[in-house]
Amino acid sequence: SGTLFEAETGTLSAGGTFDSNHLGFTGTAFANPANAAGSFVDIPVTAAAAGTKTLSFRYSDGTTAARPATISGNGTSRGTLNFPTTANWDTWTTASISVPLTAGTNTIRITGTTADGPANIDSVTVS
Ligand code: GCU
Repeated sequence: SGTLFEAETGTLSAGGTFDSNHLGFTGTAFANPANAAGSFVDIPVTAAAAGTKTLSFRYSDGTTAARPATISGNGTSRGTLNFPTTANWDTWTTASISVPLTAGTNTIRITGTTADGPANIDSVTVS
């Protein structure tokens, strides 16, 4: 359950693209942030009321190394998720973290901490 927000409603730092060349994503595309430390995707999410929510990121990482990324809400870091590898780029799984949201629109930023940048990000579900 929860409310799903597509990554392609967001914005990418320089070098990132919204792609559709791997199967199994929802919506019209997934986010492929640049392969660089500090590259990010911002995804707008709306909340009816303020409160701490679980954010579940649907992602893929078809390489042999995890793609750790810090998660921030409205500019405040809320921790790091490891984003472990998936079987291939067409295989999607989720990684979750709790983030306090304000009522209305919040900007969720996923920032890669290694030279590989973040995983491919399909969506974030707020519950
Ligand atoms: C491949 C893959 C991309 C992915 C990239 C990466 O190029 O096709 O979807 O984003 O690897 O390593 O990040």
